Amino acid sequence: MPPLRIGVLGSGSGSNMQSVLDAIGAGTLNAELRLVLSDVPDAGILDRARRNGVPCAWLDCSPFKTKLDGEAEQRCIATLRKYEVDTVVLAGFMRIVKPALLDAFPQRVLNIHPALLPAFPGLHAWKQALDYGVKITGCTVHFVDAGTDTGPIIVQRSVPVLDGDTPESLHARIQVQEHQAYPEALRLLSEGRLSLEGRRVVTRP
Ligand code: GRF
Repeated sequence: MPPLRIGVLGSGSGSNMQSVLDAIGAGTLNAELRLVLSDVPDAGILDRARRNGVPCAWLDCSPFKTKLDGEAEQRCIATLRKYEVDTVVLAGFMRIVKPALLDAFPQRVLNIHPALLPAFPGLHAWKQALDYGVKITGCTVHFVDAGTDTGPIIVQRSVPVLDGDTPESLHARIQVQEHQAYPEALRLLSEGRLSLEGRRVVTRP
């Protein structure tokens, strides 16, 4: 199989993007990180991309505040195509992506969510889990569909919620698992081992 040609969209520190880069560097993921785009001009993810020599840019998403739509969405698709991206990795991208992007990369847009979906979709999932009082939470890598955090699940990893956890301590524990889960899901995709049966993702050995 040819390497995945990955484009990352992110808004935050970029630790998940880093885990993908590290897996590529370690030879455990057959992929190239072609491009990083962020809707936040001073996001850490752009600094990390620059430090690692990965092409990157700020994606001005105005006038929208919570979604990637309209002219910005078209610019995003055009830029991803220019860099010959075939797999779009949402890594802490704090905007809803719309059908035009999904249609441009069918079954090739992935997201990571910091909870065991379908529990606690949406924002601050680790805080939702803590406030609810669950004893186990985790992270989910899934294909993106038109809903919010509703797409077919590829990989999940669990973490315990401990007495005395704060939102920060719990999120940090979840992120350790995220940094395993995203490279693992991308590895399965790169090896052509994922197929969709209904909304179930079946992994071939
Ligand atoms: C992760 O916890 C991810 O699950 C959530 O946003 C966070 C991004 O972290 N969607 P980072 O920018 O990859 O460090």
